[in-house]
Amino acid sequence: MEEIILKTNNLCKYFYRSTGTISRHQVTIKAVDDVDITVEAGQIFAVIGESGCGKSTLGYTLTRIYTPTKGRIWFDAEDISYLQKSELKRIRRKMPMVFQDAGASLNPKHTVGDILSLPLKIHYSLSRTEIKERVKQLLEIVNLPQEMMTRYPGYLSGGEKQRVGIARALALNPRVIILDEPTSALDVSVQAKILRLLIDLRDRLRLTYILITHNLSLTKNMADRVMVMYLGKVIEAAETSAIFENPIHPYTKALLSAIPVVQEKERKLLPKEVILDGEIPSPANLPETCYFLSRCQEKKSLCKKAPCPELKEVEKDHFVRCHL
Ligand SMILES: Nc1ncnc2c1ncn2[C@@H]1O[C@H](COP(=O)(O)OP(=O)(O)O)[C@@H](O)[C@H]1O
Ligand SMILES: [Mg+2]
Repeated sequence: MEEIILKTNNLCKYFYRSTGTISRHQVTIKAVDDVDITVEAGQIFAVIGESGCGKSTLGYTLTRIYTPTKGRIWFDAEDISYLQKSELKRIRRKMPMVFQDAGASLNPKHTVGDILSLPLKIHYSLSRTEIKERVKQLLEIVNLPQEMMTRYPGYLSGGEKQRVGIARALALNPRVIILDEPTSALDVSVQAKILRLLIDLRDRLRLTYILITHNLSLTKNMADRVMVMYLGKVIEAAETSAIFENPIHPYTKALLSAIPVVQEKERKLLPKEVILDGEIPSPANLPETCYFLSRCQEKKSLCKKAPCPELKEVEKDHFVRCHL
């Protein structure tokens, strides 16, 4: 049995928004609803699904940037769900986040050296020389030249900025890194290099990744396990090979059928192309039935009557939320 590094039980994060100025009516947006995950140390655990399905909110909640509305999170066997602010510093150090928009997450007024020194200053009491040494080492780890230290983010390319973002996450010897769309803002050629770096770092530094992405090719190539989300809920979760070779939920099939293929013979390996049409329900007004009903092409009369299905284990370690 592998070591379990991150686990959640019934994790929920809701947002409340008032509608209009006159009415005091509040709507609840269940951005993350009843999510159970189990992540083993060393795994690349992918979270996929369309924009707005709650992937980033899940990431923010796991690192406790957000406090859960309900449910529990264990990090390295410690219950971190409702830790106080003073204790959270310790957790964020071990589980930082890398963001899609590397540029926006780097302070334009700080040099790369300052950006990488800052977490070291906050979390450790090191001398100036020690900090400088560590910054040099971090630049080396992410394959950036030492001269980068005195540059400002505005003068870096997209790929360089993301390397700085990764170096900053590595500064405090993390165990888990939450990668929120780490390459979607980059050119394809740069993406490949960053991905190679991430895989290499995982192996060298024995890291665990939560890889938030809507890029399915990336998921297929990198992830050990995949969780598919739809409107805040997990609708399918399994080992990567099971998801790609035997997708069960109609939504997962539709997602996979949309992967661009290089060769026609690859097309045969994918589910028949399914066009997703039909309205997506508003996250503020979810149906009582299956959330995917309005877009599902396999729906039966049962689906229109029964309440939202539970997540069930349909094959060993393969979970699906579907009546069929
Ligand atoms: N701070 C917030 N306040 C209110 N609603 C939010 C907030 N953040 C996200 N949401 C809503 O929660 C849902 C999930 O958003 P998000 O986690 O950003 O999805 P994803 O990362 O998968 O695109 C969306 O409906 C979004 O509008
Ligand atoms: Mg997001």
